[in-house]
Amino acid sequence: MNAKIAGVGMYLPERVLTNFDLEKMVDTSDEWITKRTGIKERHITRPDEFASDMAVIAAKEALEDANIKAEELDLILVSTISAEMVSPTAACLVQKELGAVNAAAIDMNTACSGFVSALIVAQQFIRAETYRHILVIGSDTMSKYTDWEDRTSCVLFGDGAGAAVLSPCEDGDGILTYEMGADGAREGVLSIPSLKFSEEDLARRGGKKKRTFWMDGSEVFKFAVRIMCESMMRSLQKAGLEIGDLDMLIPHQANIRIIDGAIKRLGISPERVYANIDRTGNTSSACVPMAICEAYRAGKIKKGDTIGLVGFGGGLTWASLVMKI
Ligand code: ACO
Repeated sequence: MNAKIAGVGMYLPERVLTNFDLEKMVDTSDEWITKRTGIKERHITRPDEFASDMAVIAAKEALEDANIKAEELDLILVSTISAEMVSPTAACLVQKELGAVNAAAIDMNTACSGFVSALIVAQQFIRAETYRHILVIGSDTMSKYTDWEDRTSCVLFGDGAGAAVLSPCEDGDGILTYEMGADGAREGVLSIPSLKFSEEDLARRGGKKKRTFWMDGSEVFKFAVRIMCESMMRSLQKAGLEIGDLDMLIPHQANIRIIDGAIKRLGISPERVYANIDRTGNTSSACVPMAICEAYRAGKIKKGDTIGLVGFGGGLTWASLVMKI
């Protein structure tokens, strides 16, 4: 038995922040941001709107799409690096709001690869026949962790949530193969401290003097292109497939130049790679599920298609999988 997507949902906050808005906030330009990142606009949460709020809206859509009641859920997995509470988890807040009284609830954090990692975890429970219906959500409010005076990072991110209900299917359908990994030795390449560290602690964690988001942009770029290709190819090989067998590749949306680099290296046709970063920015855990949802609703992926998902993020971490939808 495998896990298959039974329904999808997503949520983008109402407020749109364009590159032209950012021009009025920091020393930047629409031209610079578009050329370096591919981002034109992103959605930003209200001050009173949090990761669990977005997750609930996306989850309700996914449950409706799957025609499954909240009480039928056995497990809720929320991938997030921006939960509003350390405890209770976002997953517990979602469970309460949905009335999913029979579901266990767990937050997962592998940064931007989190949604794909959470699908892989869900697959284990469904294959073991421990659980039948699992709600997997990626929700992040990156805007709440953004230093809005730092032009090098504030232009990159946006907020959003995406959700999928996973249910059992026959072998040969649903999630076919997967691969994931981590390289904790490279913690300093991409980091967000959660505590008010001393200068020494900040330096030890590789965050230099930044107390918010820190990234070595060119190192992330090189890592991202390499690992997306290697991980995706490993998942495909396990399935006995080649890159040309994918109807659609849905990668993490960090930067259009990273996606273009991967397209070139993988030798996949650009029409078979889904990108929406121009309208969403980098929404961390929410990128992949929102892209799946958009692509499905637009008819760009359909039942029976074989798709590849691949994410990479802070940690450093990565995850990919091949599934029939
Ligand atoms: N507007 C205008 N100028 C800017 C901006 C901005 N928003 N940001 C930086 N600059 C300037 C810099 O100050 C620098 O100026 P200087 O030459 O006078 O010192 C110049 O532009 C070049 O800066 P770099 O940091 O070298 O710019 P780079 O070409 O590397 O582009 C970017 C930065 C887009 C972040 C790039 O490193 C990149 O694509 N990295 C990939 C990683 C990524 O996108 N990560 C997203 C999050 S990670 C994740 O999702 C897992």
